[in-house]
Amino acid sequence: MTDLTPRPGILKIQPYKQGKSEIDNIADPIKLSSNESPLGPSPKAIEAYMNASKNLFRYPDGSQQQLIEAIAERFGVTKSKLICGNGSDELIQMLIRAYVGPGDEIIVSEMAFAMCRVHALAQGAEVINAPEPTLVADVDEILSRVTEKTKMIAIASPNNPAGKYVTRDELKRLHDSIPDNVLLLVDSAYADYVINSDYDCGMELAETTSNVVMTRTFSKLYGLSAVRIGWALCHEDIIGILQRIRTPFNTNAPALAAACEAIKDTDHEEMVRNHNNKWLVKMSTELGNLGLDIIPSVTNFILMRFPDSDYPSNSARSAKAAWEHLLADGIIPRPVGAGGPDNCLRITIGLDHENEAVLKSLGAFMNKS
Ligand SMILES: Cc1ncc(COP(=O)(O)O)c(C=O)c1O
Repeated sequence: MTDLTPRPGILKIQPYKQGKSEIDNIADPIKLSSNESPLGPSPKAIEAYMNASKNLFRYPDGSQQQLIEAIAERFGVTKSKLICGNGSDELIQMLIRAYVGPGDEIIVSEMAFAMCRVHALAQGAEVINAPEPTLVADVDEILSRVTEKTKMIAIASPNNPAGKYVTRDELKRLHDSIPDNVLLLVDSAYADYVINSDYDCGMELAETTSNVVMTRTFSKLYGLSAVRIGWALCHEDIIGILQRIRTPFNTNAPALAAACEAIKDTDHEEMVRNHNNKWLVKMSTELGNLGLDIIPSVTNFILMRFPDSDYPSNSARSAKAAWEHLLADGIIPRPVGAGGPDNCLRITIGLDHENEAVLKSLGAFMNKS
């Protein structure tokens, strides 16, 4: 037992539980628990990563210049409004550290990235949960919670684990309705998959206003989860604040090099998106036909609700029973529990044979007498 006392708030935090990656006695399980891209990164990104390995004795480029230029060129945004992080998670942490402290309130929409709560609690701030009754960030629920103490609002669009998005009109209504001294975080980690014309990842608001930050990641569609690299777009004044607390070499050289090539390889990007979106439709339809309640997703994962609840515990077709059934078949989904609606599992879109295996396994599960 130590006599040391952590900062207030830290003990309210539950340590992050990573998606399961192993199953006892199964050598090569189908891991569909963390929304990783099964097709991996662009071969050009891998080549850049390998080349970077020749210079591991050098510090990375602390200015992140090449990647910032590549992002600016690709999306037509202003270079001085960009910053890169060790995953978008780090950028979210930096924002919360910079703007939210004891006595402040941060409104976190129910299915915003779980780490928003963690970072805010660590800061000693008050976390106000805004429910998502229709499984998507709800502008009225958020607005009704804005007070004089509100410093920041965090939403994810698409959200996780539902995979639903806030429309352009609703995002604009949210931004129009909040004071300019409240920071709006639009976490668009899954934006790269979305093809719906009424979707808005927040890029234009982040480029043109003074209080919107859009965060993006290379961990999902670009298949670079392992190297940890993400980026944010926002007003130069916010960039200036983040630059004060950014550690000089927060983004490592292999990650910067790989991300530069990944973002330029639009053929690979399109191939991944097409694979995902083809399977998203097929899996959603076929899982729905099995009698599962499928939440319509625009991402690389699907949230499904099972017909029976876990209570009484002998329910045949509950999420808990399905979890065990899938694991026995060598497939790892993500139980959502506290981070989402009850009686659901989330499953990432995988390779062809992995998706077929999921359909077969859940087919057998749902058709069990
Ligand atoms: C909604 C959402 N936001 C942000 C992240 C963080 O991504 P990363 O830190 O890998 O960039 C994730 C990762 O799963 C996510 O689901």
